[in-house]
Amino acid sequence: MSTTTLQSATKRAAEALDVAGLRRQFPILGRAARDRPLVYLDNAATSQKPQAVIDALLRFYTEDCSNIHRGAHLLGQRASEAYDAARVRVQRFLGAGSDSEIIFVRGTTEAINLVAQAFGTRHLEPGQEIIISTLEHHANIVPWQMLCQRRGTRLRIVPVDETGQLVMDAYERLLGPRTGLVAVTHASNALGTVTPLREIIALAHRQGVPVLVDGAQAVPHRRVDVSQLDCDFYAFSGHKVFGPTGIGVLYAKRRWLEAMPPYQGGGGMISSVRFQGTTYADPPHKFEAGTPHIAGAIALGAAIDFLDQYSGRAIEEYEQQLLEYATQSLASVPGLRIIGTAPDKVPILSFVLQGIHPHDVGTILDRYGIATRTGHHCAQPLMERFGVPATTRASLAMYNTHHEIDALIDALHKVNEVFR
Ligand code: ALA
Repeated sequence: MSTTTLQSATKRAAEALDVAGLRRQFPILGRAARDRPLVYLDNAATSQKPQAVIDALLRFYTEDCSNIHRGAHLLGQRASEAYDAARVRVQRFLGAGSDSEIIFVRGTTEAINLVAQAFGTRHLEPGQEIIISTLEHHANIVPWQMLCQRRGTRLRIVPVDETGQLVMDAYERLLGPRTGLVAVTHASNALGTVTPLREIIALAHRQGVPVLVDGAQAVPHRRVDVSQLDCDFYAFSGHKVFGPTGIGVLYAKRRWLEAMPPYQGGGGMISSVRFQGTTYADPPHKFEAGTPHIAGAIALGAAIDFLDQYSGRAIEEYEQQLLEYATQSLASVPGLRIIGTAPDKVPILSFVLQGIHPHDVGTILDRYGIATRTGHHCAQPLMERFGVPATTRASLAMYNTHHEIDALIDALHKVNEVFR
């Protein structure tokens, strides 16, 4: 498709989503960076926040601030109701059967650590295998390595092909009687690859193996239905989906939450405590020891309400147009190679510029007000697979525009001028 045709298609998709109106709801997007309009292309690291989320945080601290499920007073009641309502919002957002299957955690990392500890210690035996993939973020590698050291379990790794997609034949061969768990990403933070989750889960379940999904990079871009996916665990972070930092979600099937021991002990997770022994509260409280990030959970609920105003299909169509436009535009930059070319991707573009270190690329882009991430993206084994120590990554969100992609391309030409 010609660039002009692609640009027109992108404009039409932007109008269908009302990207201009959407951008106005994010105060930071109207600000300058280095005396230029901010071009924020680091959404896979963290997304920006709409006014509705900022207001929810402010409202909690100015009007409702209290601990939850404890105080015998009005503020305690209001805070508890708002926190519980946020859990129900997340339940509906993920299509979970019950709000008791939604655990509030600090983020995806804590959710995976929770499963590694609670599920791993109780349900995995020495000699059993945990299947992960080359695409994984360190958060879905290191907790399993730590578990292997503790429990004598073993990691098996699904390889990726040249495009950055999982080699499914290899996955099928790895699955076997020794497999105790599959833990796989829904979308790669470094390349954008969307994995064939339904097939991954169906194949594992055929062997009676539960599946954990790292959904951190999928939830901002795709509507997820955990009941349809039939995954056993699904983790995501609030801050990547327009909510605050420090709040995230672990969805787990109720039967696992009942069977797993608690992750941490303390107040709020007990039914009764005696010096002779303690009995635990029912899920979800059993997995939420201590005072949670109350304001964060409530503001995550506001982020979900915000997202719900938009059609999931319109978001996906627009982002896919933008991805295509960006992919084609990047191809015009001399010496640029995109790493990660799978047909199904969320809008993440990782690239290297021949002979120029990604950190230098990022630093010069920053001078033009363009925010990208450079480095290994907490996915060192994946970088190794592609023979690069680092890349520059432009990760898009539904509020980015084709003008911002044009600004990126212009700045990349400038980077080339500096170094060639
Ligand atoms: N996981 C985040 C990223 O990919 C921090 O940048």
